Amino acid sequence: MKDEDFSFVRRAYFPTMIFQIDLPNPEKLNETLLNNIYGERERDQKGISRSNIPALGGWHSHNNLHKSEDYAELVELINKATDKLSENLGYADTHNLRIGTMWSIINPPRSANKAHVHPGCLWSGVYYIQSPEKCGNIEFVEPRTVHLMNQAKYQPNKKRPKECWTKVRFKPVPGRMIIFPSWLYHSVDTNMTEESGDAANRIIISFNLNQVKAK
Ligand SMILES: [Fe+2]
Repeated sequence: MKDEDFSFVRRAYFPTMIFQIDLPNPEKLNETLLNNIYGERERDQKGISRSNIPALGGWHSHNNLHKSEDYAELVELINKATDKLSENLGYADTHNLRIGTMWSIINPPRSANKAHVHPGCLWSGVYYIQSPEKCGNIEFVEPRTVHLMNQAKYQPNKKRPKECWTKVRFKPVPGRMIIFPSWLYHSVDTNMTEESGDAANRIIISFNLNQVKAK
């Protein structure tokens, strides 16, 4: 039998979708956010304990930043991005994806975030404000753990098709937003920057999204 005697198609179902949004000129917004976040840390130095590691200096703000006028511009950007996401996936227009909780994390050198998921919501996101070189990539891992139990051998020195990856890492870039399913396990690598002082901090704002009735 010859190759042309049959058709051969690869179809991919049940994908894990990750959305990426990039602001071309984020400098002004990021400077404002940076100042507001440092102000918040000044007011609430202890913060709260979640995936951050407080013993290593990782600071996590409270979860209601979206209710403050200080973050209105970012909230507007997130709403625009999530409206596009809803449209892209054909979600009902009786509902909008909106922020339920929003917080900031500052990871100083040698700090990291443990692997975790975000229960109780549909989508979660992160927006990068400051990210010096080697400050820690975010890593998402294969949610279908059955795939991790027994893996095929792949050609050495050749990149696997994306559909066969068991992890994916994003380098944080200021002005970039990543929106991912809330159930997708993720962690942040240790901040190994060679910068010092405030410039060494990895600074992000993260948020959880749910569908709420459109007004
Ligand atoms: Fe997270």
